[in-house]
Amino acid sequence: MATLISSDNNSNALNEAVARLKLGQPVAIPTETVYGLAGIASNGQAVAKIFQIKGRPSFNPLICHVDGLVMASKYAHLCQISEGLAKHFWPGPLTLVLREKSGTNIHDLVTADLGTIGIRCPEGLARQIISAVGEPLAAPSANKSGKLSPTNAGHVLDDFKDQDLLVIDNGPSKVGLESTIISVIDGHLTLLRPGSVTIEQIETVCGLKVKTAGNSTGILAPGMMKSHYAPRSKVLLNRTECEPNSAWLGFGNQPFPDNAVRALNLSPDSNLAVAAANLYAYLKQLDGDDIASICVAPIPMEELGIAINDRLTRAAAPRN
Ligand code: TXA
Ligand code: MG
Repeated sequence: MATLISSDNNSNALNEAVARLKLGQPVAIPTETVYGLAGIASNGQAVAKIFQIKGRPSFNPLICHVDGLVMASKYAHLCQISEGLAKHFWPGPLTLVLREKSGTNIHDLVTADLGTIGIRCPEGLARQIISAVGEPLAAPSANKSGKLSPTNAGHVLDDFKDQDLLVIDNGPSKVGLESTIISVIDGHLTLLRPGSVTIEQIETVCGLKVKTAGNSTGILAPGMMKSHYAPRSKVLLNRTECEPNSAWLGFGNQPFPDNAVRALNLSPDSNLAVAAANLYAYLKQLDGDDIASICVAPIPMEELGIAINDRLTRAAAPRN
């Protein structure tokens, strides 16, 4: 059975999490993006357990979470560009994919033996836990593989209530979408997954152009898999009307369609940050056996809307 512990008593939650992690057990921890299923990245048993309970394919590497640049530099080759980005955006929702240093104790399962390492420094309690553990935590989102990422502790329990898992409850995630992933290899910047840190912000900070990874390049980051982040029901995008027997996910100040079985609005004020924070929770609330589809209103393709549309497109993609 999973156990929930509130982060209100910060030191208690921190100590419990650290103790479990040091025993090689995964712990579900809050981050500013989504909840993560964390294990010590050097502990093969902990990492294997993460893959097992998520049902995640082992070719899909995990992000290593660090408490800052000093810890990152032990595991990754930093250059002026990556260091500048880390200094500017960490702690925060930016993951850098960098060349991995050789001879570190990061387990091969974490990096899928790609020669690169995905690394980010989260905010708040997650960062405190990493500092207390003293080494990186591998943490994918705390959901079953292919499903929606959890933005509150209840979502984690929905997927893992039967597991012997400690879940640290810190309320709803602030950002609500997974981190932006950018690779910085040989001076080239490539966006692997859009997020709340935008290409424009990254280009402004480092003064270089960011390429977007095309669909033909193979899987650079399996978050790029076409079907991902999916609710149970079919998802239909850019709708102006609701299909029969369907749920409606609106955006902006248009009224709900009369025929919708259930309806929610991501942000009546058209605020993209609010929409991102609500996205996964609302898709889960609308989902169910009783509907034919979830129909989603158009979301503008600008700023955070790019990341929201990216996740919605994967949610709408044909499933295997
Ligand atoms: O916001 C986030 O990034 C959250 C929180 C928990 O930190 N984590 C998260 O992890 O979204 P996950 O495992 O669901 O997604 C990580 C993505 C995957 O698409 C993976 O393929 C990619 O990062 N990734 C990790 N290491 C990589 C590497 N060395 N090269 C390319 N992609 C990598
Ligand atoms: Mg995930």
